[in-house]
Amino acid sequence: MLLRPGLEGVPVTQSAICDIDGLQGKLKYRGYPIAELASQSSFLETTYLLIWGELPSADELRDFEAKVQMHRRVSFRVRDMMKCFPATGHPMDALQSCAASLGLFYSRRAIDNPQYVYDAVIRLIAKIPTMVAAFQLIRKGQDPIQPRDDLAYSANFLYMLTEREQDPLAARIFDRCLILHAEHSLNASTFSARVTASTLTDPYAVVASAVGTLAGPLHGGANEDVIAMLEEIGTPENAGAYLDEAIAKKQKIMGFGHREYRVKDPRASILEELAEELFARFGKDEMYDVARALEKEAAARLGPKGIYPNVDFYSGLVYRKLGIPRDLFTPVFAISRVAGWLAHWREQLGANRIFRPSQIYTGVKDRTWIPTDERKKTL
Ligand code: COA
Repeated sequence: MLLRPGLEGVPVTQSAICDIDGLQGKLKYRGYPIAELASQSSFLETTYLLIWGELPSADELRDFEAKVQMHRRVSFRVRDMMKCFPATGHPMDALQSCAASLGLFYSRRAIDNPQYVYDAVIRLIAKIPTMVAAFQLIRKGQDPIQPRDDLAYSANFLYMLTEREQDPLAARIFDRCLILHAEHSLNASTFSARVTASTLTDPYAVVASAVGTLAGPLHGGANEDVIAMLEEIGTPENAGAYLDEAIAKKQKIMGFGHREYRVKDPRASILEELAEELFARFGKDEMYDVARALEKEAAARLGPKGIYPNVDFYSGLVYRKLGIPRDLFTPVFAISRVAGWLAHWREQLGANRIFRPSQIYTGVKDRTWIPTDERKKTL
């Protein structure tokens, strides 16, 4: 039996959702290039495309947006539950608990009923941003703000989070960030979602398991670490020396490298443009110069190994400029990636077989029972 650690290069499913060309640096959702979607579409329209496979008609989009708007509020019970969470806890842990709790409220588990599937999609897309924003205010000792019906999806999230209506440019840039993060084939959290889906459990459990997987620093958590790294580097002049030392110590450079890409992640290029657009309007983040210097210096050192900036490299700088606290970067990623997880949930159910891979056993083969008082100390 051939062991492939991390399942690198092992196809585990067929999928018609997302197409990545890692050598050319191309990414498409349902056949549409990411750059086109990021400039022309909205996050909700892209969500519809990912989940149902086609761009919605004008009526379908209006209906989808209206339904999402209608379901943005969360039960006071969920808010009260959040009030019991420690304020020092990571918002991803809060989000995972809240996403799982939705299964208690909508517990029908009728996954072969199209109406149940549609409603579950609406609820998850609508409520996750509200839960992320609510935890942010609750941990500061405040009551959460209710969603505002006159604001579109992204503008409303920024309003609930920052307690003020943001400039339309900021809301549009945030919406474009959500499009960029919405789907990326079988990354760890999506694989986790598909494994959970394959047991035929409810979609809230599917999303909760994916949120838990996204939280790790090798996945969604990397954008938090990028900002910490840039601050540690401090100035553009220090970038080269930092890289030399980190590479000598065999440390990973956060926001660099990707299992799928051997060139710069196309999403990183778009995020870089979005960062510049934001800085031109609202003032520059000095860490941007450090990031640019790091990317330049890294090209010679890591480029030959096919290691270039990934989606997390510039996203933190954009989020920071939008007033999003650092430990909410990954929950914001989850707000977006829930679209991809749900697309994969539906696809998995369409041709389901439970995931149950095999292993190569390396433990002791045969042992004889030893009574307690004859055993040696183990630890
Ligand atoms: N900085 C420095 N070296 C890196 C690197 C990075 N960010 N990413 C990969 N490498 C090197 C590894 O050290 C390894 O080198 P070696 O063959 O000499 O030992 C080689 O590239 C392969 O790395 P590996 O960790 O096996 O690749 P992977 O496909 O398993 O991992 C990531 C992919 C994304 C987990 C990895 O690139 C990483 O940890 N990046 C930093 C975290 C990050 O930004 N994550 C967000 C992903 S969107």
